Parts: sequence; C-alpha cells; structure tokens
Amino acid sequence: MAIIEVTNLKKSFGDLDVLKKVSFEVHKNEVVAIIGPSGSGKSTMLRSLIHLEEVTGGTIRVQDEYLVHDGVYADSKQVKSITSRMGMVFQHFNLFPHLTVQRNLELAPKYVKKESAEVLRQKSAALLKKVGLADKADVLPGKLSGGQKQRVAIARALMMSPDILLFDEPTSALDPELTGEVLQVIKQIAEEHMTMLIVTHEMGFARDVADRVIFMDNGEVMESGTPEQIFNQPKMERTRAFLNRERTEIPFEICIKAGEINNINNGQ
Ligand SMILES: Nc1ncnc2c1ncn2[C@@H]1O[C@H](COP(=O)(O)OP(=O)(O)OP(=O)(O)O)[C@@H](O)[C@H]1O
Ligand SMILES: [Mg+2]
Repeated sequence: MAIIEVTNLKKSFGDLDVLKKVSFEVHKNEVVAIIGPSGSGKSTMLRSLIHLEEVTGGTIRVQDEYLVHDGVYADSKQVKSITSRMGMVFQHFNLFPHLTVQRNLELAPKYVKKESAEVLRQKSAALLKKVGLADKADVLPGKLSGGQKQRVAIARALMMSPDILLFDEPTSALDPELTGEVLQVIKQIAEEHMTMLIVTHEMGFARDVADRVIFMDNGEVMESGTPEQIFNQPKMERTRAFLNRERTEIPFEICIKAGEINNINNGQ
C-alpha cells in the first residue's frame, strides 16, 4: 500500500524548473533512498512533502489524503494534520542551542500534542537511550559532537511518533569518523520497519539499508529499483555515470563503520 504517492510534481523558482513531473511512491514500512547529483532537486522534493516548499503543480497524497491535488493545496488544517505525521531530520540538526537535550526533545510534543510531563519524560528517556545518549539529557547541544547532535535530532523527530521519517543528507555535515554512529542509529530504526525516505550521498549505506533506491537527476526521477538493480545494473547511462563518480569519492571507512563491508567500494 502506498503511504506516500507523488504524481507529476513540479516546482519552479522563477524561471528555474527544479522539479519536473516527479512521480514515485513509498510503501508502508519501506525504506527508500534518494540519490542524485547536487542540484537535482532532492531537498526541494523532500521539503515539499512537509510543506516547507509550495509546489507549482502536481499531487502529493499521504495515507490516502491529499496534501496537494493537481497544484491545489488542502485547507490549512488538513495540511497541518498531514505534515504532522512526518518527521524530518536535516543536514544541520537544527537543535535549539539554548535548550537542554531533553527540552529539545520535549518541546514540540508538549505544545503540539499537549502530552503530560510524565509521559514526555518517559518518552524522551527511552528515545535518548535508543540513540545511545541516555547520559546527555541535561546537556546543552553546544557541548555535543556533530554525531551526537544528529542523534538528538533523530530522537527529537521520533518524539512526535511520526508515521514517516524523512532524512535530508543526515551525515553530510559530519566528519567522517562521526558518520558511522549516525548511520548505525538510522539503520537500527530502519530494522524496526519505520517508513523512511532518506536523501543520502552514502552509497554504501543506501545499498545496505534501502529496500528501494530512486535516482534523481535534473529535477526528474531517472530510475528506481532495488539497490541490486540500481548499483549493479543501472538502466540509464546517467545513473551509471553518477555512480562511477560517487565510487571514487566515498570514504571506505564510513561504510565499514556502519557495518557495511561488502559495499560497492570494495571492488565489486
Ligand atoms: N529557495 C530557492 N530559491 C531559488 N532556487 C533554489 C531555492 N532552493 C533551491 N533552489 C535551486 O533548486 C535546485 C535544486 O536544489 P536542491 O537543494 O533541491 O538540490 P539537491 O538535489 O538537494 O542538491 P544537494 O545534493 O546539493 O543538496 C538548485 O539549482 C538550487 O539552486
Ligand atoms: Mg539537498
């Protein structure tokens, strides 16, 4: 069953057509990786799903409800209801620097879901434990490493009990030695069958974790398939060229740290 259905999505910034008839589906419990060159529209597409961008045309359906239908948005209450079921993790963490880790986690559910202090405390403690940061509840984000900040951001997204998690290059602002710990946490959540859409430059990770890979180029979905298909037998020349470029650029140790040893960099 499609939990997200995107059809002929278009987005322009002035004269620049950033998304050109983008169509794809994400099924319940599926992990989908989106790969593609810089500027191909990956972030714009992800941001459109949670209404951080207004699209110029096309349809987004989430759990059988229209966020936007042929370029016409649902009313604001409906838009809020639909987007609140999706959590997003950004490249630059976006934590509140003046709030402790625990308060960063509890802020949105406290005001949006009006959950009690007791429930919030239990939830935040459990999620911090899950991302390996049980001892950091009272610390300010400035005292954390980049990898720890990103793990807090993941726990914060999970606090809202989303049905779908979106990640926009969650590790590309991190030093290579901190990337593995974040990928490991995402992998763990994937293994619990959370529906996830992950924009990533980590090809080894995409291959390891994704059920399906979508290759975007120049504002279009060029092809999509299993990791096996996309990485071993890409249909399009552009996919092949992109993967060849990436192969030379990915540091091995990141993939190895994330538990992915048999990745594309190992000469396969
Ligand atoms: N607010 C904006 N105003 C004007 N142009 C924009 C805006 N946001 C994005 N763009 C342009 O849209 C295109 C797609 O950008 P987008 O950030 O979606 O690409 P991306 O695939 O995520 O790239 P990267 O891999 O570098 O993150 C780029 O040419 C970018 O310059
Ligand atoms: Mg981007």
